[in-house]
Amino acid sequence: MMAQNKKDPISAPLLEVRDLATWFPVKRGLLSLTAGWVRAVDGVSFIIDSNETLGLVGESGCGKTTLGRTLLGLEQATGGDVLFDGRSIPAMSRREMDRLRRHIQVVFQDPLSSLNPRMNVMDIVTEGLVQFKMVEGSRQEHAERLLGEVGMGPDAVYRWPHEFSGGQRQRISIARALSLKPDLIVCDEAVSALDVSVQAQVINLLLKLQSDHRLSYLFISHDLSVVSNIADRVAVMYLGRIVELGKTADIINAPLHPYTKMLIAAVPVAGEKRIIPEVVYGEAPSSTDPPPGCRFHPRCPEAMAVCAETSPAEVARDGHRVMCHLF
Ligand SMILES: Nc1ncnc2c1ncn2[C@@H]1O[C@H](COP(=O)(O)OP(=O)(O)OP(=O)(O)O)[C@@H](O)[C@H]1O
Ligand SMILES: [Mg+2]
Repeated sequence: MMAQNKKDPISAPLLEVRDLATWFPVKRGLLSLTAGWVRAVDGVSFIIDSNETLGLVGESGCGKTTLGRTLLGLEQATGGDVLFDGRSIPAMSRREMDRLRRHIQVVFQDPLSSLNPRMNVMDIVTEGLVQFKMVEGSRQEHAERLLGEVGMGPDAVYRWPHEFSGGQRQRISIARALSLKPDLIVCDEAVSALDVSVQAQVINLLLKLQSDHRLSYLFISHDLSVVSNIADRVAVMYLGRIVELGKTADIINAPLHPYTKMLIAAVPVAGEKRIIPEVVYGEAPSSTDPPPGCRFHPRCPEAMAVCAETSPAEVARDGHRVMCHLF
């Protein structure tokens, strides 16, 4: 935890996201005039506690990666606030921001493109330590220790990313994320490219590291079944908004939002995708031009007249939040 932080000792969660928006301009014509906005993240609020995993699910293009990148400071928020340990990230100075970087790390989907092919494993996993002047003793010792944490032997130290399997490369990415002793790791589709059995191994590793180091994760995936294996709570995102959020068991066993029910119906059973009626599944509209009223209403099997006109307010009971006119 940040040493200079004078946070409220009892109440501040590790991360608090308040009404966060990240919009991208749509440029048109020779003069590149802004013709509209992609509302990739459009009014999102949640907290992540210390030692907690929040899952974030939703279809392609709903804004998951943009949300994660905004938390990492890789995208500029258009509005709202992000508090880390009770302190506003957008209000931080450059120096505070640099210090914060150590505390929030990321693991991406595709380690081959996120691991520099011209660096050996030792340099990859200790690069951050060198940058933050945290190397005591030899780099090799640090690398061996970090590789040990992720279940890899010391023989990997002088090898290159391309020599490893997808699962091993993801372990190397995790070792790199771990090197700076972060509080929060954003895992963006971190297991999505892996075979099911390897997925399970990497998830087990993440769970073990969480209990060893009191880590928190924002675990992003389009696959609700994967998320349900690791998350304490799940946030369901649809076109830039969180439409439902609750404890994982409640989301899976007692989903409220028709969109969440649709995602659950789409979870493969025994390796086969279930067939969803086209009318229900439909095409996801774009966040450049979201439908009026409830954004999900054109695809919703339970839509009522009000849904096309008024955006539903969020209701919450016992920490289970839903944004739908049915409630
Ligand atoms: N740099 C950018 N400039 C303009 N639009 C962008 C940019 N990055 C993302 N978008 C748009 O924002 C929306 C959300 O994209 P994002 O990548 O966050 O979705 P996602 O939920 O991560 O999707 P996937 O499951 O495919 O990874 C999309 O419409 C995308 O085209
Ligand atoms: Mg993404």
